[in-house]
Amino acid sequence: MEKGDLLYEGKAKKVFTTIDPDLLIVSYKDDVAAFDGELKKGTIVGKGAVNNRMTNYIFKILEQNGIPTHYVQELSDRETVVKHVEIIPLEVIIRNASAGSFSKRLNIEEGRELLQPALELCYKDDALGDPLISDYDAIALEKVTRKEIDQITEYAFQINEILKEELARVDIKLVDFKIEFGRYEGGIILADEISPDTCRLWDARTNKKLDKDRFRHDLGNVEAAYEEVYERLGL
Ligand code: TMP
Ligand code: ASP
Repeated sequence: MEKGDLLYEGKAKKVFTTIDPDLLIVSYKDDVAAFDGELKKGTIVGKGAVNNRMTNYIFKILEQNGIPTHYVQELSDRETVVKHVEIIPLEVIIRNASAGSFSKRLNIEEGRELLQPALELCYKDDALGDPLISDYDAIALEKVTRKEIDQITEYAFQINEILKEELARVDIKLVDFKIEFGRYEGGIILADEISPDTCRLWDARTNKKLDKDRFRHDLGNVEAAYEEVYERLGL
């Protein structure tokens, strides 16, 4: 399948049309941005390939477990054909342990296990800095329906269980992650990516960070961390 016009360019990905209006091609970049894009920018050599291949690997496992996703076909190291969804403008965050903005907002030490997985929604709006939003707010503002949010919630917790298990197999602790969903043929399907850019992944034994936090907080060995996840998963 050939790329058509550039439909959208984000911080980490480009999206192209194809001859089929129901399909798009996603192209993963090595570019990285943190803290709402403007504060910190850089390049992580090889990241595009890691994120593309990890996302596809995980999405295929999720499909096998009954979670519908936008995945269609991997074209190359960096490019994948996906279903053309209408993105729901919510970031769905699941947390198994405290970290990041949760630790900061609630003053909880990083790494504290949570009694049960927690779910947060953020409204995708760069100008506002993707603020937290409640399900009631999102429904009231017509961003999503109650039926959709219930389906999204059910999928999100199921995805957490599948992903946790898959990563535990390679001695990686899934601290938290962010996912996005889209509307497609009347239903809800998982879209976007699941990668070291969108998850907190810690070595199960040492708690060494194997994700974008190495870039956010200048911890060094960023490329090596992405490569390590890639290799542990056998990709
Ligand atoms: P947070 O602790 O900064 O709220 O992030 C929670 C998780 O969501 C973490 O794994 C990083 C991921 N995330 C994104 O992928 N994109 C974002 O814009 C944000 C804020 C978080
Ligand atoms: N806010 C996110 C982060 O800190 C990235 C982004 O701005 O897209 O990683």
